Amino acid sequence: MPFPVDRPRRLRRTPALRRLVRETRLRADDLILPAFVNEALDAPREISTMPGQFQESHDSLLRTVSDAKAAGINAVILFGIPQHKDAEGSEAWNEQGVVQTAIRRLKHEFGDAMVVIADNCLDEYTDHGHCGVLRPDGSVDNDATLDLYARTAVAQAAAGADIIAPSGMMDGQVAAIRQALDDNGFDETAILAYSAKYASVMYGPFRVAADSAPKQGDRRSYQMDVANQREAIRETLLDIDEGADMVMVKPAMTALDVVARVRDATDLPLCAYCVSGEYAMLRAAAAAGAFEERAAVLETLIGIRRAGADMVITYHAREVARWLDEEEA
Ligand code: PBG
Repeated sequence: MPFPVDRPRRLRRTPALRRLVRETRLRADDLILPAFVNEALDAPREISTMPGQFQESHDSLLRTVSDAKAAGINAVILFGIPQHKDAEGSEAWNEQGVVQTAIRRLKHEFGDAMVVIADNCLDEYTDHGHCGVLRPDGSVDNDATLDLYARTAVAQAAAGADIIAPSGMMDGQVAAIRQALDDNGFDETAILAYSAKYASVMYGPFRVAADSAPKQGDRRSYQMDVANQREAIRETLLDIDEGADMVMVKPAMTALDVVARVRDATDLPLCAYCVSGEYAMLRAAAAAGAFEERAAVLETLIGIRRAGADMVITYHAREVARWLDEEEA
């Protein structure tokens, strides 16, 4: 007779037992909603590469965030699409620029009840689509870019952003932003560093959504090589040294090993970004009948949390918050 000493199945017998021994949980509190606001729009416009996601007008953004709030979401990360782009991306730090205006309106409407995170980068604002300013030879000038990130961060903080999230992968960006925030009286504004951000094909749909595809070349000279894991730890520790309050791994599904290692490397809050391509894959597979979207999304998000992320940026945030509510009921 087989004689297994340990019988894990005993604890899987009923739904209540399974709930009792569940190790990882997902709550609406863990989710951050990404939102695109386009200065040129009067009404929301669906994003061709991301079915079910929209570029918002200033007014429709308020409705979307209000809907998210009603579903239990408490945090939003904003991406702006300006009407005018130039070589430096100067609309990024314009006090009346698209994201600054959106932040002010959200803060006016929701106050402290909604955490407003400002993505800090230049790719949506530059006419060439790179995340920094270019040298004559077309390469991205790291240190010249830092000044522009710092100015942008100050404008975002002045508009009322709770958290600045630098996503450009320039060396020294966290230190430059922390210094500029402190020098301008924004010592209480936090930094969520996109610490381990890979040069990933998974951002494809976003570049259509944010109109930010590089006109020439790619981002491999500043974003991380997808083959590297140890380097992610180096990047994370550097950002922490420079003053990051929270760190991020991006993408999520293709970098779960990195999430797990970064989790071990720091006790700071850890965010994972389930990016546009991951959203698009889940939607497309569900639409093709491969699986039910709800189950696939919930399994994906719990997997990201299990790997070690405290919170997840996901385009599915609103639906997930509703699904979780239904499960509770
Ligand atoms: C840069 C930025 C990007 C994303 C977030 N911030 C694009 C890029 O690096 O090319 C991608 C997010 C996604 O794919 O959902 N501002």
